[in-house]
Amino acid sequence: MTNLKAQSILVAGGGSTFTPGIIMMLLDNLDSFPIRQIKFYDNDEERQKIVADACEIMLKENAPDIKFVATTDPEIAFSDIDFVMAHIRVGKYAMREKDEKIPLKYGVIGQETCGPGGIAYGMRSIGGVLELIDYMEQYSPDAWMLNYSNPAAIVAEATRKLRPDSKIINICDMPVGIEYRMAEILGLKTRKDFVARYYGLNHFGWWTDIWDHEGNDLMPKIREWVAEHGYVTPSELENGSEQEESWMHTYAKAKDVYALTPDVLPNTYLKYYLYSQDEVEIANPDYTRANEVMDGREKQVFSECVRISKENTASMTNLEADDHASYIVDLARAIAYNTRERMLLIVENKGAINNFDSTAMVEIPCIITSNGPEPLVMGEIPRFQKGLMEQQVAVEKLVVEAWAEGSYQKLWQAITMSKTVPNARVAQQILDDLIEVNKEYWPELN
Ligand code: NAD
Ligand code: G6P
Ligand code: MN
Repeated sequence: MTNLKAQSILVAGGGSTFTPGIIMMLLDNLDSFPIRQIKFYDNDEERQKIVADACEIMLKENAPDIKFVATTDPEIAFSDIDFVMAHIRVGKYAMREKDEKIPLKYGVIGQETCGPGGIAYGMRSIGGVLELIDYMEQYSPDAWMLNYSNPAAIVAEATRKLRPDSKIINICDMPVGIEYRMAEILGLKTRKDFVARYYGLNHFGWWTDIWDHEGNDLMPKIREWVAEHGYVTPSELENGSEQEESWMHTYAKAKDVYALTPDVLPNTYLKYYLYSQDEVEIANPDYTRANEVMDGREKQVFSECVRISKENTASMTNLEADDHASYIVDLARAIAYNTRERMLLIVENKGAINNFDSTAMVEIPCIITSNGPEPLVMGEIPRFQKGLMEQQVAVEKLVVEAWAEGSYQKLWQAITMSKTVPNARVAQQILDDLIEVNKEYWPELN
């Protein structure tokens, strides 16, 4: 496959904890996805430099012909680019911590992408991601942006409404991660050994079918397992897991989420909506997931990057490329070379779920072509799922309207409508606290 056109990639949010994994995955895939240039862009020069210095060493050791630049200058970053792989966190972990702790003060779940925390994060992310799109269109108008930046549901709605013609595709790695677990439960080597049918919103969906490549129905076996163990895998049951306890709780809790809709398999994030109270009860309001990540993944990635730079070699690194990285590389390859791979993406419904709002951003399987995704028809969905999705999509649309119009009223309605929030009074208390701490990031609300 040496005649494939070599690509130029920009990682936006170069200082992300996920950047080294993506670079390692790109290096692992050079035969099917050749690269001539990699650039990093971030608005925090110091943070990005730590990651960039280590990644530059990885590139030198494995593919010295790839040109590498790390910059905070948009023109240098976005010029001569084929793909922008975006994963920014506007406000960084310091603001994530506030998103999670403020709702908990009022007995409401504190989560990165769900409930009031996700709404607050959305109000920060929209402007950041739109700015990236505008740079891309100014300096590399033919490029595609593949966006992981959260909250992906709200970001996707904002880009649909405010940049309708832009070449941006919003993605999530949660279904992929769960599908790897399903493969383990089935005793298969990889999730690519089966084909899945799935519908919903981002962090809010269900698998309806899983077939192997011979067309055999694998659902009965997975359902039987999930009914008893959630998405905890057989080997985790036997030997324990390296995963943090909070994630293991999420995989186990999928059992309770599944019980409500036993004909389909749920996304783990539904626990925040369907068992909000249980989640509040186990939360520590003084030490949330943001603290866990700052003490865990962030420390580990950054100290390893510093070590690589100091020793001037990455040959012994414990950093890993995982399914998060493989998904975005698969997507870029599919667009670059028109592979027509089938992948789950967040796209405008346009009738794919035929009894649901045609302008909603839904997560459904698509065939990936060089011209972008071709969504597959998912048909009619049941009343329970449809009702939940209608409420949640209204929340997401209200947030984007609130951002665009600077509307306090609409943001209050959005928080009130979230299934995680008990009533309008609590919604307003949370909103007023969130406004206070987000002054630097949110548009002014009137
Ligand atoms: P991180 O804080 O380590 O990295 C984010 C980087 O973005 C930081 O270096 C920060 O300086 C930079 N940044 C912030 N605002 C910016 C702006 N306006 N312009 C340029 N750079 C900016 O965060 P992380 O935990 O590595 O996650 C990165 C992002 O990826 C988050 O949004 C996270 O939610 C998202 N993510 C999404 C999925 C998914 O399923 N969609 C999966 C994993 C991570
Ligand atoms: C899952 C979700 C992402 C989320 C990520 C990291 O993969 O799909 O949207 O950002 O988990 O969560 P964490 O709490 O580990 O930062
Ligand atoms: Mn996600």
